[in-house]
Amino acid sequence: MKNMKNNRIEYRAPSPDDAPLLLDYLKAVGSESDNLTFDGTVSVPLEKEREIIEHWNNDPKVFVLVAFDGQKAAGMLHFQGSGKERISHVGEFGISVRREYWGQSIGRTLIEAMIHWAGHNGVTKINLLVREDNDRAIALYSKMGFVMEGCTSRMFCIDGKYIDGIMMGREI
Ligand SMILES: CC(C)(COP(=O)(O)OP(=O)(O)OC[C@H]1O[C@@H](n2cnc3c(N)ncnc32)[C@H](O)[C@@H]1OP(=O)(O)O)[C@@H](O)C(=O)NCCC(=O)NCCS
Repeated sequence: MKNMKNNRIEYRAPSPDDAPLLLDYLKAVGSESDNLTFDGTVSVPLEKEREIIEHWNNDPKVFVLVAFDGQKAAGMLHFQGSGKERISHVGEFGISVRREYWGQSIGRTLIEAMIHWAGHNGVTKINLLVREDNDRAIALYSKMGFVMEGCTSRMFCIDGKYIDGIMMGREI
């Protein structure tokens, strides 16, 4: 994994025992920006989060990678492919990094790992949706070879205000 500026960070799939740590992470990133589909009021019970992680680990169409800084999750990427035959080569992902870790190439490293995984797991197209005003994320995706493929209106509705989205994709 090149370009990793912060070598304290360990990249690995989460285990069910990481559930408390991941819930803490999701609450933090949800409250730090309005760029995600959730805010800081994550109310998933601990047992449910354990089950979700277990489910991810048993689903060959899922790729999840967490950047750990000791006992703290610093960043996370979740890719979900389709089980339907004709679109089994396609999947979408979401990514986030705690604000205090922005700019340390964690986002880039997570995406590089996903692209590598995709190349070895029959995924030949990766899609994503991003807020049209999320310049930081769009810049990162563009650097990683994603291109703009379309626009979608009303991607988000926050405090009664609609925000449009951009569809980006990368062929593998
Ligand atoms: C988008 C996000 C995942 C990026 O993570 P990150 O770890 O900071 O990303 P990296 O450090 O790997 O790379 C950021 C790149 O964006 C560029 N960048 C930084 N600030 C920028 C800005 N204001 N505008 C444009 N580009 C910017 C940098 O040049 C950097 O590229 P470089 O490493 O080649 O210099 C992170 O900011 C985040 O979690 N944001 C909130 C949640 C979110 O928006 N998720 C995506 C939803 S679609």
